[in-house]
Amino acid sequence: MKNLSGTIRERRTIRRYSDAPVEQKVIVSLLNEAAALYEAEGTPHWRCLYAGDPESREELAECMIAKMKGSTLARLLPAKMTDLMKKQIINTPAHLIFIAESGETERQQDINYAAVCSIMQSVQLLGWEQGLGMLWYTDPMMLGEPFYQKIGLREKERFAGILEIGYFDRTPRARKRTPAERSWTILGEESRLLTDPALPAPHSVLKLLNDAVWAPNDGLREPWRFIYVTGGEAARQLRSAGKHALLPLLLVVATEEADPHKQQEDYAAVCCLVQNFQLLAKSEPWKVRRHIPEWVYERDQCKALGLRPLERIVAVLELGGDKNDPESGSLPPEVRIELNSFVKTGPL
Ligand SMILES: Cc1cc2nc3c(=O)[nH]c(=O)nc-3n(C[C@H](O)[C@H](O)[C@H](O)COP(=O)(O)O)c2cc1C
Repeated sequence: MKNLSGTIRERRTIRRYSDAPVEQKVIVSLLNEAAALYEAEGTPHWRCLYAGDPESREELAECMIAKMKGSTLARLLPAKMTDLMKKQIINTPAHLIFIAESGETERQQDINYAAVCSIMQSVQLLGWEQGLGMLWYTDPMMLGEPFYQKIGLREKERFAGILEIGYFDRTPRARKRTPAERSWTILGEESRLLTDPALPAPHSVLKLLNDAVWAPNDGLREPWRFIYVTGGEAARQLRSAGKHALLPLLLVVATEEADPHKQQEDYAAVCCLVQNFQLLAKSEPWKVRRHIPEWVYERDQCKALGLRPLERIVAVLELGGDKNDPESGSLPPEVRIELNSFVKTGPL
């Protein structure tokens, strides 16, 4: 991406699209490019449905408004309202439905979900550079059983969201983000970081975070916090147990709402922020290795690293190390996209 920091900061959620059609090949290439940009430990599994022709958009609209139609609210609303909503879905040029596949463990499920959300963010950024606007849609008012049945959502699979996509004429105004410094804690000594040029100094990490916080996040809850672990007893224990080769670690933490839907949206928003950070760090002299280690599910270990109740670690980023070292990293995730029908599987 040419001007990544500018793209991240200037991208806006777009809810009104022009009539200009979006070609299927543009969508498929955005998806492939976005998948190739994803870098993390572990191989994620996910799938994607695409509704781009009039018939599949109609099918999608039908299953989205089915829940509305059956609700008490709909009985109070004029029929015109549901017709309008249906029309809006049909008139949106393209819809991509993202699903994280099931995993054997909670960790594998998180790996899959984090990958999908990060790829969705890259799709948004790559699309923005080509003049495409998008809305990440998860509204439970429309997305109920009829929709989940239609997309064939299986037990333990996680629906991540629909990206509604189209060209647009008007860009909405920006809504501010809180500077990362206000959500930032250093754990351990800072002195080593200031003297060792191979290690990312806190100010350079903060600089990237201040761009990365321009991630989409529903309700502008900004549900994140950052713990920069440069040392300390808990970190030393992790290191001596062979759990991390490198320090410093940047822990990217999600604050947890009581409502499960908001919890999921917030986790997704934090994944978008992490993806922004990783993309931005590509132009730094140090490396980023992204993990969801086993220990993030151990409450005591997290507590020792400063985690508060109602918080969880979404990503552990090992920062530093020589960029020229060959890596045995994971393969880019395979793109599985089902084109223009909810039942037919099409080739890429
Ligand atoms: C996980 C997630 C779910 C979202 N769900 C919705 C939604 O259901 N409806 C909606 O209008 N916007 C939704 N959004 C978009 C946010 O409202 C939007 O990102 C936020 O207002 C910030 O605006 P910006 O994206 O222009 O920076 C969602 C965003 C994310 C990351």
